[in-house]
Formats: sequence, C-alpha cells, structure tokens
Amino acid sequence: MTSVLSHPSAPRARTATRRRYLMCPPEHFTVSYAINPWMDPSVPVDRDLAMRQWDALRRAYLGLGHSVEVLDPLPDLPDMVFAANGATVVDGTVLGARFRYAERAGEAAAHLAWFRSAGFTRVVEPEFVNEGEGDLLVAGPPEDQIVLAGTGFRTDPRAHVEAASVFGRPVVPLDLVDPRYYHLDTALAVLDETTIAWLPAAFAPASQDVLRDLFPDAITVPAADAAVLGLNAVSDGRHVVLPIQAGDLADAVAEHGFVPVPVDLSELLKGGGGPKCCTLEVRA
Ligand code: ARG
Repeated sequence: MTSVLSHPSAPRARTATRRRYLMCPPEHFTVSYAINPWMDPSVPVDRDLAMRQWDALRRAYLGLGHSVEVLDPLPDLPDMVFAANGATVVDGTVLGARFRYAERAGEAAAHLAWFRSAGFTRVVEPEFVNEGEGDLLVAGPPEDQIVLAGTGFRTDPRAHVEAASVFGRPVVPLDLVDPRYYHLDTALAVLDETTIAWLPAAFAPASQDVLRDLFPDAITVPAADAAVLGLNAVSDGRHVVLPIQAGDLADAVAEHGFVPVPVDLSELLKGGGGPKCCTLEVRA
C-alpha cells in the first residue's frame, strides 16, 4: 500500500518561520507621475482607503506572528509606501537602494537612516541602480542562500555583481521582458526554500531555462492572476499573503500545501504595487 506521505498528489506540509518586516504607511500616497504602466495620474486615489488597506496588511502579518516595524513616510515621496524597494537585507547586511527615477531617489536615504538607527552596522550605499527587494529576492536554504536578481527595467546588471560581493552569495541574473512586470517581485514570488510561483512569459527564454532548472516544483501563475499583480506575494514558508483578486493563484498555492492569506490592496495597485512591494524583509 502506498503511504499517503509518498503519494504524488499529497501536498507537502509547509512550515512557517517568524519574520521581521519593515513597512511605510501610505500617508502621502498618490499617483502624480507614471513610471510604470500601472500608473495613471488621471485616475483618482482614495488615500483613506489606501491607509485602511495597508493597515489590514500590517495586521495580517501581526496575526501570523510576524513583527512589523514602521518607517516614517515623507511628504513628496508618494511611492514610499512601497518599502520593499528601499533596501535588501541578508544576514544583517544592508545593501541600500539607488532608484532608477528621480521621483523616488529621496527614499534611499530614509531607508539607510532607518537601518543605521535600528543598530545595523553593515550598511552599504550602492554604486549602481538597484531597487531593493523589488529586483533582489532571496531564495534557497539558509546555509545555501542565493539572490535572484531581476534586470531589464530598473536594476542595473552591474548592481547584481555589487550585490554578490556585498552579500557574499551567488546572484542569479534574470532578464525581465514585459513592462507590466517591471520588477522581479511582480513576476516571481519565493514561497519557500525550494518553491517559487512565477510567470514564465515575463522572462527572457534563457532566464526561463535557468528558473526551470533551479525550481522544478515551480507554480505557474494563471496569466489573469499575474495581471492583478498576484505574484506580488509574501510568504513565511507556509502562509502566502497575496492580492485577493488572484483567486486561482490562491487555489494553486493551496494545492501545493501553502495557506493563502488574501488581502485587498486595490488602491496601491494604482501605483503598480501589491503586498510584497509594501513589505521589506529584515533578515537580521
Ligand atoms: N510606483 C512604484 C514604482 O514604479 C511601484 C513600486 C512597486 N514595488 C515593487 N516592489 N514592485 O517604482
């Protein structure tokens, strides 16, 4: 008799680990310029609703047992709510961001200051453009971590080399090809050490091959769910916080043994962001 544990269709049990997140409230959020195809300054934004939705995301993390620290938002930086772009932290080493567009440039210093005042001693100001965890995603087991690194729209490929030397980890360069999926975290979500969800068509063919080799158990997102930024998800290894609009992706992750936690960030989607964009993981 085949044990249920070895049955190919039985989902693997998934294990959550407690995470530390940094978030920045959308107090000054608006869409006053367009630096990605999702942004249309003629569409009004309901900032109060954005605040309530953001706070529901924060409370979802707390409910899952994670910690959330808050970065003070600055006026004139309407995209600062997308905290994931402000830095990348691996093993307590902080690589600051350098933004592609002038509209967001001021966010980088606020992040550096936060990490310094939070007691981080290895804080590196980057030479090349990198948009933090928007394009640099950590995967793999703790002893063997790698950084998946997007390029094509925002992060400079030279920043991949810089990240490899700052973190002392292998960096896997990935070419993004669809402007709607301008950051790696809109085209790929790391669900646990060996599992990603992704949209193959957002990557150049050679990058698709690399990802297929690295992640044979990858979950392919239905195109309609990628188109509501369903892949902009945050996983603790078991719970996957994802946009409520991405119902089929939620079903797919559940079939793989994860627990979907849907949240509605419809107002922030107008800026081209979802749960992951609002969430910087502090890997101390
Ligand atoms: N409006 C912001 C931009 O275009 C959205 C950033 C979304 N963040 C992310 N991690 N994908 O830069």
